[in-house]
Amino acid sequence: MIIEPLGGSYDRKAFSCGVLALDQYLHELANQDVKRRVRNCFVAADRDVDLIAGYYTLAASSVPITSLPEDLTRRLPRYPVLPAILIGRLAVDTRYQGQRVGSILIVDALRRCAQAAPASFALIVDAKDDKAAAFYCKYGFRPFQDRRLSLFLSVATALKLFG
Ligand SMILES: CC(C)(COP(=O)(O)OP(=O)(O)OC[C@H]1O[C@@H](n2cnc3c(N)ncnc32)[C@H](O)[C@@H]1OP(=O)(O)O)[C@@H](O)C(=O)NCCC(=O)NCCS
Repeated sequence: MIIEPLGGSYDRKAFSCGVLALDQYLHELANQDVKRRVRNCFVAADRDVDLIAGYYTLAASSVPITSLPEDLTRRLPRYPVLPAILIGRLAVDTRYQGQRVGSILIVDALRRCAQAAPASFALIVDAKDDKAAAFYCKYGFRPFQDRRLSLFLSVATALKLFG
């Protein structure tokens, strides 16, 4: 299994995670988004069988400082808006669910975020429901003050945890 930018010879249409919108995005839109430079898409590919086991998208974003909890903002400069990176979508094919592919994709997103030339304070995500939010919370994501299903992970904190 390798994680690489979307491309190559994988059959995108074979991907099925059980959520139609997330499947359709990879089948029909991801490539165009990458070409138009509005999202990057990374896939965990099972090279033995040429299948996409999972994917996620990344795009530049920002966070208003007022949406962060006070225990964090106390230690931050008073910039009104902080730079962030958005995981727009993340999904794992049903054939690979429960095998840590989702966890590996999150750690990969964090690594790319930490290594990118522009600084980003947080990795952010919009969970599609409470179950998805619970999945992200396992990795230290916290909900924004004003939006229960939008979560953030402080990159500095995560790097300390994950090394
Ligand atoms: C949610 C999803 C990405 C998880 O990927 P995965 O590869 O199956 O998850 P992992 O094997 O890495 O599991 C890691 C941990 O998260 C937990 N977990 C997995 N799916 C979960 C879910 N839907 N809700 C809460 N926790 C979940 C696992 O039990 C595991 O916990 P543990 O460390 O205590 O054992 C995947 O099931 C999926 O694509 N589902 C359909 C699409 C979706 O819901 N996407 C969420 C983005 S909004």
